[in-house]
Amino acid sequence: MIYLDNAATTYPKPEEVYNAMMDQMKGFGANPGRSGHKMAIEAGRLIFNTREMIARFFNIDNPMQIIFTANATESLNLAIKGVLKSGDHVITTSMEHNSILRPIKSLEKIGVENTIIQCNSEGIVNIEDIKGAIKSNTKMIAMTHASNVTGTIMPVEEVGRIAKESGLYFLLDAAQTAGVYEIDVKKLNIDLLALPGHKGLLGPQGVGILYIREDLDVMHMKEGGTGSKSEELIQPEMLPDRYESGTPNTPGIAGLAKGIEFIQKTGLDQIRQHEEMLTQYFIDELKKIEIVKIYGPKDAKKQAAVVSINIGEEDSSEIAYILDKVFEIAVRPGLHCAPYTHKTIGTFEQGTVRFSIGYFNTKNDIDEAIAAIKNICQQL
Ligand code: ALA
Repeated sequence: MIYLDNAATTYPKPEEVYNAMMDQMKGFGANPGRSGHKMAIEAGRLIFNTREMIARFFNIDNPMQIIFTANATESLNLAIKGVLKSGDHVITTSMEHNSILRPIKSLEKIGVENTIIQCNSEGIVNIEDIKGAIKSNTKMIAMTHASNVTGTIMPVEEVGRIAKESGLYFLLDAAQTAGVYEIDVKKLNIDLLALPGHKGLLGPQGVGILYIREDLDVMHMKEGGTGSKSEELIQPEMLPDRYESGTPNTPGIAGLAKGIEFIQKTGLDQIRQHEEMLTQYFIDELKKIEIVKIYGPKDAKKQAAVVSINIGEEDSSEIAYILDKVFEIAVRPGLHCAPYTHKTIGTFEQGTVRFSIGYFNTKNDIDEAIAAIKNICQQL
C-alpha cells in the first residue's frame, strides 16, 4: 500500500515508537503518579520526562503547562470552552476544521459571539480582515496553522502579534504542522497550543497536548482522581493535575516521546525539506494533467504537505475508492471534517481527493500516484 493519508495520521511510525510502547506496557505497565512503588514511579517519570521534552521542543518554560489530552480535538474543546464565557467574542477563519468550528458554534447558545473570517479561494486570510473584526468584547483568535484540506499556511506570526497588541488570547491549532514546522510559543505569541500526538509528532493515536500559557485562566472540563490532594473533594488547582483526571495514556505517551526524539535526531529542517520537495514535485506533475484541478496555493513553500485535487467533475469518493482498490494508494476524499473550507475553495458538493505526504514517503510513491491519476484520467 502507498500511504498518502498522513494528514489524517502519519504512517508508518519510527520503529522506536512501536518498541517503546511495548516496552512500557510489558516492563513497567503500572499506573503513574498513583501507587508509590518502583514501577509506578518509573511510569510517572516517563510522563514527566516527556512533558519536559515537549516543553523544550516548543520553547515552553514550564513543563507543567503541558496538558496531556486524548487528541487535538479535546485540546481545542478545553481551550475554547474553558476560556470563552457569555458575552465574549471569538474570531476564527473559514479554513478551520470542525474541531474549532463546532465548539465555537456550540457556544452561541450561551451567548458567545463569533466571526468567521472569509479566506480567498486558495485559503489565504487577509490580515486586515482579522484586525477589522476585533471588537471591544473580543477575547480570542482561534485558528489553524495550516489547512487540513489545502495545506495553506496561515500568517501565524502576524496574527500572534495582533493578538498580543490587542490583548487577545491566541489559540493555535497545529494539527497539520507540529513536528514539521518550527513552533516557538514565545516567538509566535501563542497563549494556547493544541496538538495531536499522532500526526507530525509521529506518536500513536490517543494522545493529544494542550499548552496553556502561565497565569491564563482556563476552566477545567472534568473532575476526578489525580493522585494528588486526595483528601479534598475539589479538583486540585495545580497544573497539570487540574486538567488531567483519570489514568493517562502512558503507552501512548511513551510512543510520543520516541516520535519527538526521532524528529529531534532527524532535524525539523530535514523533515520539512523532504516533504516540501515531494509536495512541489507532486504539484508540478499534477499541473501537466489537463483534467486535474488542484486547490490551494500550489506552492510547497506556502502550504504544508497536503494537496487536494479533483479529476474533472468526478466524485472525489469514487476516485479515492479506485485509488485504494485498483492502485493500492490510500488517500482521503470528501469534506475532511472542514465544510467551510470546502465552501471557501468551491468544492462543497464534490469534495476533494486529498493526498497528504509524510516524511517516510518517497519520490517513487509520488510517481506511482501520478501514474495512477493519469491512468484514471485516461479511462474517463
Ligand atoms: N483531521 C484529520 C484529517 O484531516 C483527521 O484527516
